[in-house]
Amino acid sequence: MGHDLVIVANRLPVDRAERPDGTSEWRPSPGGLVTAIEPVMRAENGVWLGWPGGTEQDLEPFEVDGLDLHPMSMTAEEIEGHYEGFSNGTLWPLYHDLVAKPEFHREWWDSYVAVNRRFADQAAELANEGALVWVQDYQMQLVPQMLRELRPDLRIGFYLHIPFPPAELFQQLPWRRQLLEGLLGADLVGFQLPGGAANFVRLVRQRVGHKTHRDLVYLPDGRTVRAAAFPISIDTQGFEELAQTPEVTARTKEIRSALGDPRKIFLGIDRLDYTKGIYARLRAYAELLADDHFDVEDAVFVQVAVPSREQVEEYQRLRDETDRLVGRINGDHGKIGRPAISYLHSSYPREEMAALYRAADIMVVTPYRDGMNLVAKEYVASQYDDAGALVLSEFAGAADELRQAWLVNPYDINGMKSALLEAYQADEKDLVKRMKAMRKTVKKHDVAAWADSFMTALADVRDHRKTVRPSRSRSDG
Ligand code: F6P
Repeated sequence: MGHDLVIVANRLPVDRAERPDGTSEWRPSPGGLVTAIEPVMRAENGVWLGWPGGTEQDLEPFEVDGLDLHPMSMTAEEIEGHYEGFSNGTLWPLYHDLVAKPEFHREWWDSYVAVNRRFADQAAELANEGALVWVQDYQMQLVPQMLRELRPDLRIGFYLHIPFPPAELFQQLPWRRQLLEGLLGADLVGFQLPGGAANFVRLVRQRVGHKTHRDLVYLPDGRTVRAAAFPISIDTQGFEELAQTPEVTARTKEIRSALGDPRKIFLGIDRLDYTKGIYARLRAYAELLADDHFDVEDAVFVQVAVPSREQVEEYQRLRDETDRLVGRINGDHGKIGRPAISYLHSSYPREEMAALYRAADIMVVTPYRDGMNLVAKEYVASQYDDAGALVLSEFAGAADELRQAWLVNPYDINGMKSALLEAYQADEKDLVKRMKAMRKTVKKHDVAAWADSFMTALADVRDHRKTVRPSRSRSDG
C-alpha cells in the first residue's frame, strides 16, 4: 500500500538505543526537525524516508510509536561523500556565511547526486497517485526535480532548515545551476526567513534565466514555483508542560544545588558546531570574570556541547579548541568546587534539557549564522513563570521574532560582554516584560502553525498555477 504523504529527509526521526540486556531498540530522536513534522505525519498517515545512521544495509521498513519509517541504507563511501563531504563539508559552511571554508570536490558532488537519486526513486515508489511529498533540507536539494521527472502527478514541497545564502556566496558553487534546478522541481520552496527566499528568487532569475515576479518563478513548461518564508518553531505547549512536571522541577533544584546554588546561572546548549559561536561567547564570559564584574561564587556558565559530525575535520578541530579554552578559563578563574565553566560534551533527553532551561537565569545563544535556532524558542517556552533572560545573536533566524531578547553581534566581543552583563544585572520588572512578550510570540507561532501554513501555501500554489499566468514577460529585479 502506498502513502498520501511522504516525508523525505536525510535522517529518520529515530536513534538506535541500547537496552540494559544488550539488545537495541529504536527511540524517537530529540532533534528539532522531528518535533516539527511528527504531528503532520500522524494526521496524514504518512511515511518518513531517511537514513537511520550507520552503515547497516538492507533494513526493512518499521514502525516506532505508530510512525511508518522507511530506512535508507548508506554505504561508508556515501556517508563520506554525501553526508560528511558535500552536505557538511561544502554546503553547510557555504550556506552559513563561510564561517568555515567550504571545500569543493567533484567526487563529493557525484555522491550527493547518487544519494539524492536513490531517495527520489524510493519516494516515487512509496507515493500514491497525487500524493504530497515534503522534502527536507540541504542534503536533499536535488530530490524535487528528480522526483518531478519520475512522478509529475505529485505535489512536492521543499523546506530548507538552514539559511539560504546571498548570490555573492552561492555562486562560488561549481554546481550552482544544478542545485537551483533541483529545487525548482518543487511547487513550493520554503525558507526560514524572507531574505533566504529573496536570495533564491534572485539567483533563479540571474543564473537559470527564468521569469520571476515577487515570490513566484514561472517555468517554461507552464509550472509556477513559489518561494516564501515559513519560520519554523517548536511544540511550545509541550515544552511548557514538560517544564512544569514535578520531575523536571525536582531535577532543576538538583542542578542548581549541584552547581553550588550560585546567584545566576548562564547556559549555552548547542551542537558542537563552528557556526554556533561557542568559543566567542565563552571568551566574552571569561573577560567579565577577569574584569571583576562578578566571580565564580556569584555565577557559573553551563555549556552543553552536543557531539556532532565527529568525522569531519573542522568539527574535530573545534572540539580541541573548545576543550583548550574551557581548560584555560577554568584554570585562570576557577576555585575548588567552583569551575567558571561547567562544560558537558554530551547529548541529553528533553526532560534534562527542560530542567537545564529552568535552572538557567540567562540563556546565551550566539551563533555566527543560524537558520532559526530552536534552543532559543525552547528556553522561552520553558519559562512559564516569565522569569529568565535571553541573550541572542542577531544572526539567528529566531532574532526576527524574539525582538525582546538582548540582541548581540557575536563578532563583537565587547558588545557581547555588555549584553551578558546587562542581562545579569537586569531588574525583575524588565525581565518579566521582555519574557512575556517573547512567550506570546512562541505561543502564537508554534510548530503546528508552521506546518499548517506550509501545507496551506502548498495547496495554494497548485491552485494559483491553474488560474494565474503572467500577462507578459517580465523579469523584475
Ligand atoms: O539544522 C540542520 C540539521 O541538519 C538538522 O536538521 C539536524 O537536526 C541537525 O542539523 C544535525 O544534523 P546531522 O544530521 O548532521 O546530525
